[in-house]
Amino acid sequence: MEEQSSRSKFSGKIGFVLAAAGSAVGLGNLWRFPYLAAKYGGGIFLLVYIILAVTFGFALMTAEVALGRKTGLSVSGAFKKLNKKWAFLGYISASVPIIILPYYSVIGGWVTKYIETYFTGQGTAAAGADYFGGFISQTWQPIFWFGIFVLITALIVFFGVEKGIERVSKFMMPILVILSIGIAIFVITRPGSSAGLKYYLIPDFSKFSSTTILAAIGQLFYSMSLAMGIMITYGSYMKKDVDLEKSVHQIEYFDTGFALIAGLMIVPGVAVYSGVENLDSSGPALMFQVLPQVFDNMPMGHLIGGLFFILVLFAALTSSISLMETVVSIFQDKLKISRRLLVVLVTIGTFAIGLLSSLGFGPLSFIEPLGAGTSLLDFFDFISNSVIMPIVALFTCIFVGYVIKTKAISDEVKISSKFHWEKLFVVMVKYIAPIGLVAILISSVLNSLGIAKI
Ligand code: TRP
Repeated sequence: MEEQSSRSKFSGKIGFVLAAAGSAVGLGNLWRFPYLAAKYGGGIFLLVYIILAVTFGFALMTAEVALGRKTGLSVSGAFKKLNKKWAFLGYISASVPIIILPYYSVIGGWVTKYIETYFTGQGTAAAGADYFGGFISQTWQPIFWFGIFVLITALIVFFGVEKGIERVSKFMMPILVILSIGIAIFVITRPGSSAGLKYYLIPDFSKFSSTTILAAIGQLFYSMSLAMGIMITYGSYMKKDVDLEKSVHQIEYFDTGFALIAGLMIVPGVAVYSGVENLDSSGPALMFQVLPQVFDNMPMGHLIGGLFFILVLFAALTSSISLMETVVSIFQDKLKISRRLLVVLVTIGTFAIGLLSSLGFGPLSFIEPLGAGTSLLDFFDFISNSVIMPIVALFTCIFVGYVIKTKAISDEVKISSKFHWEKLFVVMVKYIAPIGLVAILISSVLNSLGIAKI
């Protein structure tokens, strides 16, 4: 099964890009990017993010996809095959989807709840200031919707009908992009949007700190599904004649472009409906607070709102399905039990761990793991995106730069095309990324221990 020759390959040139982009585009773009941009100073976050995406993001994604295509193996096998001592990196990578899936599903539950909201005619109520807070601070409601989302994900994985979902999402995704552009244009043309636009687009360098970089890097990993082995697995299904470098660029540009559009409909929306002074305080709630206000002021807005959340649900499901499959396959490699039983066990585990994040906004809101105003969901998010993923990325760079050497990756890339950005790739992987990642990890640990504010 793990042999190169027996892997079924993506069909056609565009198959790989579509599958990888399907995994990349999800709640990371729509829900996470806008609230981070709002929280970390708008324009300066955007600038740092874009620079990182085209340099570091490019280098890491190229490395991962090439590792997968070269070995024909998914993450746990790929590192081991190239160097026995590095099998541990496969295990650390594997812990990331296990942490992400439960809280991703909690947010997926919120999306599902909002579909119900719009289809039961509560669009105006949803635009009220306390609607979202009133919802997530309850005990059972959020658990119910979270449970529904996990169940849908689990049923699809259990019955192996991912192909059907992929087919549906292939035409749903473009509609989501177009609808988002339309909503963004609507928001930007409202009176009062300019303060939000300025905040979002013009960098304010006084707001720059190492935290900006850490937040942007964590978001980059999350949004592009990097530093968790996923792209290695996708690479293992990529044909040797598909242009690797071009595919990486396409995924990267598409993912970033969509995140920018999501930010464009949400960040200026805050300025229009509640004032820029509220921009940096919302956190994970932002999308769910702002968009209902936008829809409530739009012609046919409630209908559009309902449609929008359905499309978002599909984008979230393609991601959660791929996350759950990854988690199942991690255990499948280790435990000799049937796949279906594993799906059941992973579902129960996901539900149990996700309960913490869900309850963290209600009965467990007194637990503020990262300081006042933070939640258990923020904590899981921080551990995966700001701690484990930077560590995985650091080791991946060291592995590629100094153990197997960058030439191994360059050679793999050159099987399918010239490697235009080779110099950038080498410098990033060998020098800039490792040094930068170490600096950021140290400063983030010091910051979170309250020892220093760097
Ligand atoms: N990138 C996805 C998003 O933006 C989230 C995600 C993280 C993901 N890791 C993943 C999706 C692994 C599929 C597989 O929403």
